[in-house]
Amino acid sequence: MGAEKIIIDCDPGQDDAINLLLAMSSPAELEILGITTVAGNVPLEFTQRNARLICDVADRGDMRVYAGCPRPMVRPLLTAEKVHGGTGIDGIEVGTPKQPLQQRHAVDFIVDTLLAADDASITLVPTGPLTNIAMAIVKDPSILAKVRRIVLMGGAMREGGNFSPSAEFNILVDPHAAQVVFECGRPLVVMGLDVTHQVIATRERVARIAALANPAALATAGMLGFFNRHDSKKYGYEGAPLHDPCTVAWLLCPELFDGHDCNVVVETASPLTMGHTAVDFWGVTGRRPNATWVHAVDADGFYDLLVERIGRYST
Ligand code: RIB
Ligand code: CA
Repeated sequence: MGAEKIIIDCDPGQDDAINLLLAMSSPAELEILGITTVAGNVPLEFTQRNARLICDVADRGDMRVYAGCPRPMVRPLLTAEKVHGGTGIDGIEVGTPKQPLQQRHAVDFIVDTLLAADDASITLVPTGPLTNIAMAIVKDPSILAKVRRIVLMGGAMREGGNFSPSAEFNILVDPHAAQVVFECGRPLVVMGLDVTHQVIATRERVARIAALANPAALATAGMLGFFNRHDSKKYGYEGAPLHDPCTVAWLLCPELFDGHDCNVVVETASPLTMGHTAVDFWGVTGRRPNATWVHAVDADGFYDLLVERIGRYST
């Protein structure tokens, strides 16, 4: 079996950035066809710049970065500078990337790439609001036949919301896009807060990464140094949950995780619970399962994987 063909759609964001570094460290398992960016943690002009900067850190001039949608499908943009800082990747120096931005719109890149692919051959890995993915599906629904699976970070069940009492940020920012994706009919693997809140970037874990002393490791440790401050205070954890790298870690080592096939529906009407993911974990509605809801992870194994892969970058 050759490397899995993937498109990563993201809103860097320190955790998105670390997910990119994890993916780029593993060319034997993952063939990254492109990195598409979307407005989310910070506006699009910054998320696309940040993705390009991380390609510079990884010394991957072969990567192709595309800018996508600058706002959600229906709602106004909600951003998270209070979590990620004004640049979106506070914790490292943010200058002008060497990596160019591709001229094609991210949605067109996704559509064109999928249309040219074999059936069920490309995995989508969204770690931000799902606007680009949904717009690609709306633009040309025939692309769905080419999607092998969608492994996304978003949603919450027992953990409750992180940006409203009942909604996780990625889904809350663009619940209408999330509804399109959750109804698309392709295999979904969903990493919600219930599992991401189990992979806390503790001081000891950050120190292990910093000790690797290559540019990717130093950038990862620097970003975590900033990223840790907000959620530590908010939740009382000794570090921040490393949300987005759960997606690539699952692709690399699914055995680290436990999931349960069930029905997930997104709230798109209630002002009070907008963006809530109604996860029918116990099958009480009789609705057809449309997702594998990942609810548990071997956190030590996750960080062993992250340290080993980030350690592959040369000093
Ligand atoms: O709620 C966590 C998610 O929102 C992560 O993807 C983080 O990067 C932000 O986009
Ligand atoms: Ca993200």
